[in-house]
Formats: sequence, C-alpha cells, structure tokens
Amino acid sequence: MADGQEAALQVKGLSKSFGDGANRVQVLSEVDLTLARGAFDAVMGPSGSGKSTLLHLLAGLVAADDGDIRVGGVSISTMNDHDVTCFRRRRIGLVFQDFNLIPTLTAEENIALPLLLDRQRPDAAHIDALLARFGLTQRRSHIPSKLSGGERQRVAIARALVMKPDIVLADEPTGNLDSPAGRAFCELLREMNDEVGCTILMVSHDPVVAAAAKRVHLLKDGRFVDTFETGHDAARVSDRYLETMRP
Ligand SMILES: Nc1ncnc2c1ncn2[C@@H]1O[C@H](COP(=O)(O)OP(=O)(O)OP(=O)(O)O)[C@@H](O)[C@H]1O
Ligand SMILES: [Mg+2]
Repeated sequence: MADGQEAALQVKGLSKSFGDGANRVQVLSEVDLTLARGAFDAVMGPSGSGKSTLLHLLAGLVAADDGDIRVGGVSISTMNDHDVTCFRRRRIGLVFQDFNLIPTLTAEENIALPLLLDRQRPDAAHIDALLARFGLTQRRSHIPSKLSGGERQRVAIARALVMKPDIVLADEPTGNLDSPAGRAFCELLREMNDEVGCTILMVSHDPVVAAAAKRVHLLKDGRFVDTFETGHDAARVSDRYLETMRP
C-alpha cells in the first residue's frame, strides 16, 4: 500500500472445488479481494454461492485449491495446520451464526478463552472493558444458556475482539436473531468499525444486514461480479442485488 501499511486482507486467485468427476462443484474461481485496514465489507450471494466456503478459506479452516491469502501481510496459504491455528487465534476474530460459545463456561470465560488457549494471562482491565462495552458486566458469570440471544451474540463479538485481531470474519451473524436484535447487532458492528477501527468482512444474504457495511461484493457463479458502496442504504443494496442476480 502507498503508506507502507499492509492491507488487512489480500486475496489473489482463490479457487476452491468440492468432489470429483461428475460430482465436482467449482465453488470459487480465481477470486480476488482486498480490504484496507478499517474497511467494513460484506459479501452477498444466493444460498450455495460459496459465501461460507470463502470465510472458511480466509480463516484457514479449509485449504484452497489455488491462490494466495494474506492477513495483515502474512500469507496463510502455505502454513501448516499448527501454524495456521495459532495465527487464526491471534490475528483473526471469528463470529459464526451459532456463536460457538462453550456451554459450560461463563460469559467472561468465553470472552477470555482465546487468550487462555494462547497461554496468555487475561488482563482483567481489558476483559472488564470489553464486558462493559458490550453491556455484559451484570452477566459476566452467566453461562450461555442463561443469556438471551442478543447477549450471546455480544459475547461472541467480544471474544472475536479480545485478541485485537487484524480482521473480524462474520458468517450470517444475525441469522439466529429476531429483527430488532439483528438491527442492534448491525449497529454494534458499525460502532466497532467506526470507534475501534476494526476491519470486518461479513457474509449475509440480507440487504438490511449487508447495508451495515460500507461496501458490498456480490458473489455469483464462483466470482465477484459487482462491488459497490452501500451508503448504508438497504433499499439500494437490495435493488443492486436483485438486478445483478437476475438470470
Ligand atoms: N465440505 C463440503 N463438501 C462438498 N461440498 C461442499 C462442502 N462445503 C460446501 N459445499 C458445497 O459448496 C457450495 C457452497 O456452499 P456454501 O456453504 O459456501 O454456500 P453459502 O453461500 O454459504 O450458502 P448459504 O447462504 O446457504 O449459507 C454448495 O454447493 C455446497 O453444497
Ligand atoms: Mg453459508
């Protein structure tokens, strides 16, 4: 980049297929994507277009057939399993639809988990600040089954941010929430992006959710076919999506 700062995410020529022979499905074909630090982008596409596969590749959870993925300037494509696991824990924040919280751990312990797995001693002030920021101070000792859906989601975001990652990857993060909680969650992501400057790549098929991002990429037939600024306008996102996806 011009100022010598590495992009938060740089993807070049990323391809992925599943299956063999007649069952082979080419999910992604030579996909390129760059997110500068502080970006908040969304990927939209129909069901089965490869959105989750893309995020799994970017998180190093699944190996690509071809292409290069750089997170904060570091290529994860050639890392072995152990190195990519450590790298992911330290530098990538993940928020999945079902949150993946550990049911036997409290809210506070779930948030601190990435630090413990990395054999770091959690800084109490840092954890307290995250709990307060996400309105969870009074809920810190509750296990996930005693939390509301919105609270569980906030625990999941706080956990994704605890390591101060280069990028947060979120897959249909509002998929399990009713709409007011979904909207509140989108607001929270926007605040994280505005205030803390964290870089976010989110996947969603919902134009209202995607409009929380600053920019949207449309995925069709394994490629990005359109990229545009949202203006945080859900109607604009919806119109553009329908126009581009028309057969
Ligand atoms: N492990 C796998 N083995 C075989 N095929 C797979 C595997 N994972 C995904 N696929 C196929 O890859 C394609 C893309 O799946 P993916 O889950 O990435 O879609 P998506 O865009 O996230 O869809 P949705 O909006 O429904 O979540 C689908 O056709 C799916 O069947
Ligand atoms: Mg998916």
